[in-house]
Amino acid sequence: MILKTNILKAINSKTGDGFEPFYLYESRKIKEKCSIFQNITYPNKSIHFASMANINPQFLEIVKGEGLNIFVNSPLHLDAALKAGFSGSEIIFTSSALSVKAMKNIESVGVLVNLDSLNQLALWTQLFSRKAVGIRCNIGDYVKPYASHAGAFIGKESRLGFTHDEISRIPDKSIIKGLHLYVGTDVFNIRYFIDCYKELIKIAVEFPNLEYLNFGGGFGVAENGDRQFDFEEYNKQVTKLMYEFSEKKGKSIKLILEPGRIIGGNAGYFVCCVSDIKNRPDKKLVGVNASTVQFSRPLLYPDTANHPVMIIRNGVQVTTGAMQLTTVYGCSTYSRDIFTDKAVLPELQIGDIVVLGNAGSYSASSYMQFLGFQKPEEYYL
Ligand SMILES: Cc1ncc(COP(=O)(O)O)c(C=O)c1O
Repeated sequence: MILKTNILKAINSKTGDGFEPFYLYESRKIKEKCSIFQNITYPNKSIHFASMANINPQFLEIVKGEGLNIFVNSPLHLDAALKAGFSGSEIIFTSSALSVKAMKNIESVGVLVNLDSLNQLALWTQLFSRKAVGIRCNIGDYVKPYASHAGAFIGKESRLGFTHDEISRIPDKSIIKGLHLYVGTDVFNIRYFIDCYKELIKIAVEFPNLEYLNFGGGFGVAENGDRQFDFEEYNKQVTKLMYEFSEKKGKSIKLILEPGRIIGGNAGYFVCCVSDIKNRPDKKLVGVNASTVQFSRPLLYPDTANHPVMIIRNGVQVTTGAMQLTTVYGCSTYSRDIFTDKAVLPELQIGDIVVLGNAGSYSASSYMQFLGFQKPEEYYL
């Protein structure tokens, strides 16, 4: 991957002697992705950025500026959303196993809530009587669930949402105002999305007071940027589906989407530098001045996280030279502190700058205190 001149310039300006690892984001790319969703043809819609992908206040300011609303799954992220200026009605709260305290707290803010179980629904009605609420559905019995690197989100393997049987046991379906679905992450297959949405729609006819269908997120981001999600086709199909369903219901049903990864994935870079090199007979080991607890996708998904690695030396990107299979490891004693063992890189030198791409989603937001490394700074272009 070749770094654009403005990115290279920005990295060079921040990588003087003794610099600490940091994230850099291209605001333009984040805005572009927001506008793709805002341009979905179906008019009655609300796009909520999934804040677990990136909770940085500046990131939230950008997506808010582009007209997106927000989706949160924890009280802490709810606070962050409120601080960023989102009002209660612009926030969706979907989670599971909420305590009485958490449920009272989120209800008091006036956010749109999606509940995860019959017990949670019973608690909700006990606390707030017939106040309308949404539910998360698990339609996995009727589609072949997509095997995502992040686990099962629908189907028998998934702990999440109401199954068909549980839906049939809801005592009063008239208080349900919306159905929520999240089918998996990093999905490129539009047919899979639409097949799942159609299953949700089959259930939806049972709910007399439905106001919205929330199809969640999951839009695929190619790790090396070589594959694009086909938004033109997605737009066509989701718009058609929503018009048809609204007609069947005799009223306009709101479309809600919760894109996460796609909004900032390709807009972010993680920057660190080579601080040690070990030449083993069978391996080239390159140590950097950062730990995977500061960039934890490789730690959470060692087999599937795949981030392009770029090298800068004396201010210039190094793209030539004999390439070799290289392991890039973090500067801790943790044996699994490895950024990648699959990078094919030129011969490296201590002091070379290492840039990991596709680092804008689930990267800074999954920083861990484990091992004792500081939270990296995040800069925006
Ligand atoms: C309910 C829900 N909606 C949306 C998202 C965002 O998903 P993605 O980043 O795959 O678009 C998530 C991520 O875990 C989620 O759990």
